[in-house]
Amino acid sequence: VETGDPGAARQALEDGGVPPDSARLLVSLLHDLHGRLLENPELEALVRALDGRYILPAPGGDVIRNASVLPTGRNTYGFDPWRVPSAAAQREGRLQAERLLERLREERGSWPETVALALWGTDNMKRDGAPLAQALALLGARARFDSYGRLVGAELIPLEELGRPRVDVVVTASGVFRDLLPLQLRLLADAAWLAASADEDPADNAVRLHALAQMKALGCTLEEASRRVFSNADGAYGANVNQTVESGAWNQEDELAEVFVRRKGFAYGRDGRPEAAHDLMRMALGTVDAAYQNLDSVELGVSDVDQYVDALGGVTRAASREAGREVAAYVGDETRGAGVVRSLKEQVSLESRTRTLNPRWYEAMLSHGYQGVREVEARVTTTLGWSATADAVSPWVYQGIGDTYVLDPEMRKRLSELNPDAASRMAGRLLEACDRGFWTPDDDTLAALQDAADELEDRLEGIDPEAAA
Ligand code: BEZ
Ligand code: MG
Repeated sequence: VETGDPGAARQALEDGGVPPDSARLLVSLLHDLHGRLLENPELEALVRALDGRYILPAPGGDVIRNASVLPTGRNTYGFDPWRVPSAAAQREGRLQAERLLERLREERGSWPETVALALWGTDNMKRDGAPLAQALALLGARARFDSYGRLVGAELIPLEELGRPRVDVVVTASGVFRDLLPLQLRLLADAAWLAASADEDPADNAVRLHALAQMKALGCTLEEASRRVFSNADGAYGANVNQTVESGAWNQEDELAEVFVRRKGFAYGRDGRPEAAHDLMRMALGTVDAAYQNLDSVELGVSDVDQYVDALGGVTRAASREAGREVAAYVGDETRGAGVVRSLKEQVSLESRTRTLNPRWYEAMLSHGYQGVREVEARVTTTLGWSATADAVSPWVYQGIGDTYVLDPEMRKRLSELNPDAASRMAGRLLEACDRGFWTPDDDTLAALQDAADELEDRLEGIDPEAAA
């Protein structure tokens, strides 16, 4: 139905069985939202601000969850840190943790002992702490608030009420999370400590089981051994796994694990202070059965930016090394309706079909010319990152990238004319994927790929292959 025709929209809803009153309300909300989406007052507001004039305040966040963030161009406020996680976020977090556990139980036939969670600040800000509430739910804990509704710490859910064992967690928080949500770092540390020190049978409480062993092995206190929140050293951000993949300057996959642990191995305890705790992190990672991260926005998939490789890929590779087995990674897609848990491999396949190899996606990218080719090339590098960190790329993805962008002479020429540097690097990435054993094409394909890469390099150096022939 045309967005400009509220009458027709209402009729369509009523024909679909929506009661007239609800249809009227829904259409009026959508009509209003549509109007606010069309407004674009950002430049005007910027000029007002530079003039020292008043800018109306507005909430920030995800427009899909909260339409009142529109129109843009207002003075955004974030959230009240004393009220995160909200009651709704705790409910959402518990449901999503249950979906993850259900999937893991299906695949393993038993409860997992430990889940590694990558937590980001922006995701938690947009969703009032729902992702961090998943970590609480796995531990069998919840946030505790005082009578003014202010966050004061964690409390355990009794095992009888929980109805399953407590699952240990290894939280790897981004530097942005650490900066934005210091109270919540302490909340998670408090929950881990309460679980580790609970008077419960370790068979029902993997946090206690592991912390007791770690205390003994490391010769530290139980409180030190119970730390489960890891992030960067103060003032540092990122794990550098993405940059290492991008540079290509690594030999063994274990090197990526090492980069990650060195960078992220600072434990944040109940006092909120970071302390280098690389040995504890290694031991905790050695118990991990699955790695997990939420996807919270329809705008960004796991291969659109390289930070997911850095966070989820990094922790997956590090856990695999410490555990001495391939740890599987999962993604919680909560971009629409009730959440869905997918394996990372399923997510990478989905995004490859809908974006990387979808003409509607790449034609739109290439319409941006030089930068469009750069975006495609960045995705190819990110895809290689998913092989390197999590073995999450099926061979048909590389074959599809090769066929679409490099082996097709017309497309190759087009990319090279738009951005010779990125086009040449893209072919180089595919050869790198072959060298590293992520993809084993047949001999003819490999030879064609090599020729295409040579041609792209010639073009980069200004040699026209048609003239040279
Ligand atoms: C964060 O919100 O924590 C984040 C955002 C972008 C990249 C990495 C982390
Ligand atoms: Mg950015």
